[in-house]
Amino acid sequence: TLTIEENTIGYCGVNGVIANNHVGAVGDGFADSANSNGAAMGWAIDVSAAGTYDIEFRYANGGAAARTAQVSANGSNQSISFAADANNWAAWKTQSVDLALTAGTNYITLTSTTADGLANIDSVTVSGMIMGDAQLN
Ligand code: GCU
Repeated sequence: TLTIEENTIGYCGVNGVIANNHVGAVGDGFADSANSNGAAMGWAIDVSAAGTYDIEFRYANGGAAARTAQVSANGSNQSISFAADANNWAAWKTQSVDLALTAGTNYITLTSTTADGLANIDSVTVSGMIMGDAQLN
């Protein structure tokens, strides 16, 4: 399992800022994307084998509505929805998707599909390779 915080190795950037104005975020704070459709965040990770990996985001969404986004790497795409917890930007939760990664370096992007932009993102955790019944962590 690999957890990447903002400003640590593997973190590539955000269309927005690193902020720390809500309690409970780990590390330097969290990524606060622009409130716009297409606002994105990116990470680079190396895995030794191709397979399906669990990509988990720690997020907070104190907006009025769920914020949807697309998670992509090397041509695989999954949609994700960050549920709203109206008016509470300090309620950190996790949401994950299973995503196919290729052996070697994978550039993972999270791209907003609503005008609200992304939820506030504290970290991404990549774990396991799922092969049939066997899960390696
Ligand atoms: C508020 C909140 C930010 C959040 C923003 C948003 O301004 O303080 O942390 O990113 O709303 O709607 O995305």
